[in-house]
Amino acid sequence: MKSSWSPSRRSFIGKSIVGATALVGSEFFTRPGLFAQELVTPSMTEGPFYPDRLPLDTDNDLLVLNNSITPAVGEITHLTGKVMDQKGNPVRNARVEIWQVDNNGVYLHSKGGDRTKLDKNFQGFGRFATGLKAEYYFRTIKPVAYPGRTPHIHFAVYVGDRKVLSTQCMIKGNADQNARDGLLRSIRDEKARQSLIVDFQPLAGSKIGELTANFDIVLGLTPNEDQLKEQENERKSG
Ligand SMILES: [Fe+2]
Repeated sequence: MKSSWSPSRRSFIGKSIVGATALVGSEFFTRPGLFAQELVTPSMTEGPFYPDRLPLDTDNDLLVLNNSITPAVGEITHLTGKVMDQKGNPVRNARVEIWQVDNNGVYLHSKGGDRTKLDKNFQGFGRFATGLKAEYYFRTIKPVAYPGRTPHIHFAVYVGDRKVLSTQCMIKGNADQNARDGLLRSIRDEKARQSLIVDFQPLAGSKIGELTANFDIVLGLTPNEDQLKEQENERKSG
């Protein structure tokens, strides 16, 4: 898959505007201020628990490992979001990675908690490449706390081969734990901090108590398309 910014993003946007959305499209081109600067998603530390051995299955369904029939334990969460640049333009072909503890607070990392409690059915890590609408989707569990931290999900976002963001999302319902969390508190700007706190809501109509959560990601970079073209050419020739 082509893994850089599209050099023809403008024409993509142009072509994608049809019918009822045409008006919005024309406004986009004539009123540049309409999509004013989005609040850039603050970065947070990757921490020490990025898997030291990636699972054999790295897809976007963290509940089921390969062909196993036993799902992971935990509150099933459909985690979605969109990856944008600061102008609100979709960032296609971005690779979104997540990793988090299982329902017992154990990471997929040899030093990430009590190995005897590891939920062997939880994938712990997943990847997804954004498509035309720059959306990502994971099926995972609602994260639980582990000593010293409020519940969170780690994110890393790559554009091409470059990691452009490492961050974490927290859960809105955990106000007390969030308020005590040193790493979260270190983001001094209130709006920036709040942008990492996500509502985990019941999925309408779910008979098994599934949740949905949406975490949009705004990358604080302006794509340097010449540079990316160069990278692409290097890849082709190398
Ligand atoms: Fe963590």
